[in-house]
Amino acid sequence: MAERVAIILAAGVSKRMNTQIAKVLHEVCGRPMLSYVLDACREICVSKIYVVVGFSAEQVKGRFSEYANIVWVRQDEQLGTAHAVLCCKEHLKDYEGEILVLCGDGPLIRAGTLKTLIEEHEAGQSSATLATAVLDEASGYGRIVRDSSGNIQSIVEDSDCTPGQLAINEINPSYYLFNSKVLFEALEKVEPDNVKEEYYLTDAISGIIGTGHKVAAITAVQPAEAVGINSRAQLSAASKIMQRRIQKELMENGVTIVDPDNTWIDARAQIGQDTVIEPFTYIHGEVKIGQGCRIGPFAYLRHGTVLRNDVVLGVYTEVKNSILADGVRARHLSFIGDTTVGENVNIGAGSITANFDGQKVCQTNIGNNCYIGSGAVLIAPLELKDGSHINAGTVVSQESVNELGGKDKKDVSER
Ligand code: UD1
Ligand code: MG
Repeated sequence: MAERVAIILAAGVSKRMNTQIAKVLHEVCGRPMLSYVLDACREICVSKIYVVVGFSAEQVKGRFSEYANIVWVRQDEQLGTAHAVLCCKEHLKDYEGEILVLCGDGPLIRAGTLKTLIEEHEAGQSSATLATAVLDEASGYGRIVRDSSGNIQSIVEDSDCTPGQLAINEINPSYYLFNSKVLFEALEKVEPDNVKEEYYLTDAISGIIGTGHKVAAITAVQPAEAVGINSRAQLSAASKIMQRRIQKELMENGVTIVDPDNTWIDARAQIGQDTVIEPFTYIHGEVKIGQGCRIGPFAYLRHGTVLRNDVVLGVYTEVKNSILADGVRARHLSFIGDTTVGENVNIGAGSITANFDGQKVCQTNIGNNCYIGSGAVLIAPLELKDGSHINAGTVVSQESVNELGGKDKKDVSER
C-alpha cells in the first residue's frame, strides 16, 4: 500500500460566517468542526497531517495543541485553496506518495468514504481521484463537468458557472487524493482566472487532465456528508445532521431517546445501556451517564457530569461538574454543581448547591444514603456525612453542620 499523508485546509477568513473566530473552531455538537476532519484522517491511518492555518492561526493551534502528528503550515495571505496546498510544498518536496486533500469546514466527512476513495484511486491507478456527491440543491458548490462519455473534465465554481453548468447537481465536496508530484506540478500552473481572482485547487483537476494524467471522479459521498460550512445557516444544518448521527449511534448502543427531535446530545457524551432520555433534555460537554438511568424531561447536564447507574434526574434539574453515585434521585427543580453525591441520596424538589461564593467555585460532598429535603440550600464548601438528613427548607452551611451535628438533630441529623 502506498504511503499517504493528508493536507487539511483551514486558513480561510470566512467572510460569510461573519466571525472573529477561525471558522474551523466553530462547534458542531460541542466539538470544533476541524476535529471531525482530523478524526477521519486518523481513522484511515495517514502518516502525517498537514493543517494549513492563517486567519486566527494561533487560536486554532492552541485548541489542538494536544493532538499528535499534526504539522502546522502557515498561509499568511489567503489567496485561495490552490495557494493553501502549495504552502505545504516545502514540507513535502521529497515526498513521493499520495496526498489526501480535505477542507476543515467539512465536518460530516466519514472515514468509510475516504477508504472508498483510496481503494478506487489505487484500483484505477489514477494520478488524482475525487469523490463527488449528487445534491437536490447544489448552489454554492463547485460543479462537476463531465464529457459525453462521463469522464470528468473540470470543476467549475458556483460563481463562475454558465447557466447550463448551474443546472448540474453533481458537486465537489472537496475530498481529493493526488499523487504528490502530479499535484504540485499542476498547482504551479494554476492562475487566478475567475470571478473571485483566487487560486483554485479545483483548477488543478483540469490542469492534471490537460497534461494527460488519469483523473477519476467517483460519486461516493452521501448528500448528508457533503455539507461544507460557509455560513451560520450551514453550521446549523450540519449540526442537525451530526446530532442525528450521534443519537442513532446511541440508540444502536441500547439508549432510549424518547423524542430525538427535541433532545440535544453533545458528541463527547457517553451514555450506557437502558438509560432513557426523556424529551427536552440537553447534554452539553463531556458527560458520562451509566446504565439504567432516567434523564429528563427538561434536564440540563453540563460538562464534567458523571452519573453512575440507576440515577434518576427529572424536570428542570441541572448538573454540572459533579459525580452522582448509583441510585441518586433528583426528580425536580435542582441545581447540583461541583458536587459528589453518594449512593442512594435523595435530593428533594427545589434543592440546590450554592457553589459560587462570588469569587470562587466551591465543592460540596454529600455522603451515601443522605436525605436532602425539598427547598434546601447547601452552601459550599460543605461536607455531609453518610446518612445525613437535611430537613425541607433548610439553609445548610459547614458551620451549621458543625454546630448542630452533635446536639440538635432536627435540622441536620444522621439517619
Ligand atoms: C470549496 C471548493 C468547492 C467545493 C466546496 C465544498 C475551491 C476553489 N472550491 O469551495 O469546489 O464545492 O469547497 O465545501 O476549492 N482555505 C484556505 N486558504 C485559502 C482559502 C481557503 O485554507 O486561501 C480553506 C478554508 O478555510 C476552508 C477550505 O479551504 O476550510 C475551503 O475554502 P472555502 O472558502 O470554504 O471554499 P468553498 O467556497 O466552500
Ligand atoms: Mg467551504
